[in-house]
Amino acid sequence: MSRAAVLAGLGAVVPPREITNQMLSERLDTTDAWIRTRTGILKRHAVEPGGATSDLAVAAGEKALKSAGLATVDLVVLATATPDHPLPGTAPAVAARLGLGHIPAFDVAAVCAGFVYALSVGAGAIAARTAETVLVIGAEAFTSILNPQDRGTAILFGDGAGAVVLRADEDDEPGALAGFDLGSDGSLAELISIPGGGSRQRSGGLPPDQDDSWFTMQGREVFTQAVTHMSRSTKAVLEKVGWPVATVDRIVGHQANVRILHSVSELLGIDKERAVVHLDQVGNTSAASIPLALAAAAERGELLAGHRVALTAFGGGLAWGSAALVWPELATG
Ligand code: UT7
Repeated sequence: MSRAAVLAGLGAVVPPREITNQMLSERLDTTDAWIRTRTGILKRHAVEPGGATSDLAVAAGEKALKSAGLATVDLVVLATATPDHPLPGTAPAVAARLGLGHIPAFDVAAVCAGFVYALSVGAGAIAARTAETVLVIGAEAFTSILNPQDRGTAILFGDGAGAVVLRADEDDEPGALAGFDLGSDGSLAELISIPGGGSRQRSGGLPPDQDDSWFTMQGREVFTQAVTHMSRSTKAVLEKVGWPVATVDRIVGHQANVRILHSVSELLGIDKERAVVHLDQVGNTSAASIPLALAAAAERGELLAGHRVALTAFGGGLAWGSAALVWPELATG
């Protein structure tokens, strides 16, 4: 037996304001029927004007700590593509608002793959004995970077946050993170980007153009890449931990499009009933997507203690990541 990071707490939140497909179809050239059939999304949530990622991260963090029965942790890792400000990172503010004291806290920027990356960083800190307990959060106020005129993105994304607590224990404990597979392909960075606002543009001395600061995505190409990398990466992590595909009880994929989730299941040979689907309720919430789906699935009784669970995410970077764990008994916050 050896030391491992074990899932000990889980919590998730979405802001109360709902944006339905019908509401979007009133201001964009789209329809409820198109959005439902092409994506599976029925609605998404948005922060109120003036709301920010840290508000959601704190609320999810509180729930995860409560679920773990802990008042504090040794480290906070926050995955987000929509920090409260370009600088500083948002994690220290979240740690302070949670009353966690002067602990290390930092952001991970891996867009929709961010939560799996942050999970691996948290597990790594436990393996290296720099932490006994870690709060890993995925949180986004993604609607704040969407061009309201772009039907290709405005219909897809929503806001939310999910968090887990990891604690050090033995690797045969339920909840132990058994393995990871991570990867990236920066040669395709332009498929998902915010072109403006960074050093490339600013060093040129040109004033930023308003349109450069919106999120952009080449949807069709991203779809293909997502299916390829999520299925390959899931296969890779399952091989690493020695689990035959047929023994996987649940696959919790990044919630971008139900057609992506079903294609990944099909390519892997996993019955699509085993793929957790939560995007119908919240859309694509980027780094918050997997922990929100975990919390929803746990609450619906789709994740049971002892289940073999594969997580897989993909997004801007391009970056992707997968993880494997046996689901533990958990009080959901
Ligand atoms: O989070 C990171 C990962 N992100 C993703 O994985 C997103 C991946 N991409 C997707 O989910 C899909 O590509 C989209 C949902 C973005 C688009 O679906 P699609 O089936 O790939 O549509 P398309 O871009 O191929 O467009 C098909 C048709 C086009 O019309 P024509 O040329 O066939 O007449 C589009 O103009 O659908 C049209 N269209 C729309 N119609 C109504 C595109 N967007 C919309 C829309 N409403 N919102």
